[in-house]
Amino acid sequence: MRHLLTLNDVTAEEIQRIFALTRDIKAKLADGIREPLFPGRVMALLFEKPSLRTRVSFQAGMAHLGGSSMMLGDDVGFGKRERIDDFTRVLCEFVDVIVMRCKQHETVEQVAKFATCSVINGLTDTAHPCQALADLFTIQEHTGSLKSAKLAWVGDSNNVAASLALACGLLGVEFSIAAPKGYEFPAEFLESLHKTCPEIKFTATSDPHSAVQNASAVYTDVWTSMGQENEKLKREQDFADFQVNEQVMASAPADALFMHCLPAHRGEEVTSQVLDCPNSVVVQQAGNRMHVQKGILAWLLGMQS
Ligand code: CP
Ligand code: NVA
Repeated sequence: MRHLLTLNDVTAEEIQRIFALTRDIKAKLADGIREPLFPGRVMALLFEKPSLRTRVSFQAGMAHLGGSSMMLGDDVGFGKRERIDDFTRVLCEFVDVIVMRCKQHETVEQVAKFATCSVINGLTDTAHPCQALADLFTIQEHTGSLKSAKLAWVGDSNNVAASLALACGLLGVEFSIAAPKGYEFPAEFLESLHKTCPEIKFTATSDPHSAVQNASAVYTDVWTSMGQENEKLKREQDFADFQVNEQVMASAPADALFMHCLPAHRGEEVTSQVLDCPNSVVVQQAGNRMHVQKGILAWLLGMQS
């Protein structure tokens, strides 16, 4: 059974296949065609953290493609009423795919271990693979090719940054990161990244201005991710020099895109001037979550039909 827990679960060729499916499905939707690829198929969503984009884009996408979805609430008692293996094996009797948002990555791994249907990671503390695929798809829509693209990340070395670094490594996109001291990628992640993508063009610095030089896209995310709320005050101080503002964007090429996975905290990691500037593609990124996740579903569920 294939799952998408991190981008280590897909090859570069499979990502290109997902992008090809996405382009086709997105173009058809623009022409008013909602091809029923998954009639009668059911998606369960199990979320331990809040979500707008991930939840709604998966549910709307599944509806467009003729399937249905259900958001499982607290009443199913996940992690409380029965063991995870019992829960998972029973849930898989009813549904064709499970999308999960978990506090701890190990939880999605446990479910995938027992699942007899595909499990998709809709964000954990260490990975956000669907976000990263939608983002690379968005860059490709703008640059035409990813071959000479460079993505510059400014801020925390978090779940989104980790998945983007891996997506860039797989697709041959240069990745640079500017993070404050103490907020760099863990050594084990870097080791795994370089093992999976031996040819990755990767640079790490603590200077946002240097990271964004020659960037095709400048990307940031909140300083305090979900689950880190008790570190908020310290992080505000530690990240104070890592705001993406007009001065940082001025160090990037004039046509560099501005990207953010959203939700954004205006005035913290990004100014409103940058978030709302003509080069900002944040809304298109969010829209592409749905298109790319349809591509992911077509790829994953297509293998099971
Ligand atoms: N970017 C993203 O995953 O947004 P949500 O938290 O709203 O799903
Ligand atoms: N890094 C953020 C991403 C939200 C989509 C978080 O985990 O809260």
